[in-house]
Amino acid sequence: MERLVSAAEVRSATGEARREGKTIALVPTMGALHDGHLSLVRAACERADYVAVSVFVNPTQFGPGEDFEAYPRDMDGDMELLRAEGVDLVFTPTAGAMYAPDAQVTVDPGPLGQVFEGAARPTHFRGVCTVVTKLFAIAQPDLAYFGEKDYQQLAIVRLMVRDLDLPVRIVGCPIVREPDGLAMSSRNVYLSAEERRAATVLYRALCEARDIASAREADAEIIASEMASTVGTEPLVELDYAAVIDPETFRPLDLFGAKPARALIAARVGRTRLIDNIALEVG
Ligand code: PAF
Repeated sequence: MERLVSAAEVRSATGEARREGKTIALVPTMGALHDGHLSLVRAACERADYVAVSVFVNPTQFGPGEDFEAYPRDMDGDMELLRAEGVDLVFTPTAGAMYAPDAQVTVDPGPLGQVFEGAARPTHFRGVCTVVTKLFAIAQPDLAYFGEKDYQQLAIVRLMVRDLDLPVRIVGCPIVREPDGLAMSSRNVYLSAEERRAATVLYRALCEARDIASAREADAEIIASEMASTVGTEPLVELDYAAVIDPETFRPLDLFGAKPARALIAARVGRTRLIDNIALEVG
């Protein structure tokens, strides 16, 4: 496994792999790797001949006052985990190497970048789209792997690839959960023991939504308000949003039942913002 820090080196390594006829996969990450990331890496290793992983805490997707400085970093631990998975290349650029000091062109995520996570974090998806486009331009992968935990991110990246004709196939992978249901996230390390226990209410609320939907017991609006009242039983958790949406447009569903649906939830647990989601199958 090689660790490379410059875009030119990565382009030449993946270029060589391509000339050898290999299928190239990219797994973009911000490091502090957990089993959720490793599930993406494993899926990539199963399908592609050459797997590159980027580890880069991207400053442009954090807003002012967000946790860019505090975001967990563990480069040595990450390298060890990736080596054990049999990854071919790890790209670990510095922010200075990724962005020219006078960089001014960015990728606009469009209207989907303004709702839900985009409403709470107005510059977030612009930063994500810009860095992901750059990573695609650098590594030129055939396939790129993203987790369903960041469901809106996955939907926006898919749209971006479609709308900008980027020559890469996006592969979404299922959420990996702790035994008590909490979705794995690098930010879970911020939680105190009490907050960690309280945070399980998010998954409970999502499971209720799934059960109500599959029993056809209520429409979308009622399901969303049930989720909100479940979260309301946990004093340490402050709900940001609970919604039932069309998984492509992210519009709230008026008429529940005809289409696939997704329940989304976001909340603050102490100072930590957590997001989660689940597929709803109507019975
Ligand atoms: O999901 C993440 O970790 C980041 O948003 C990503 C896709 C690596 C871009 O920085």
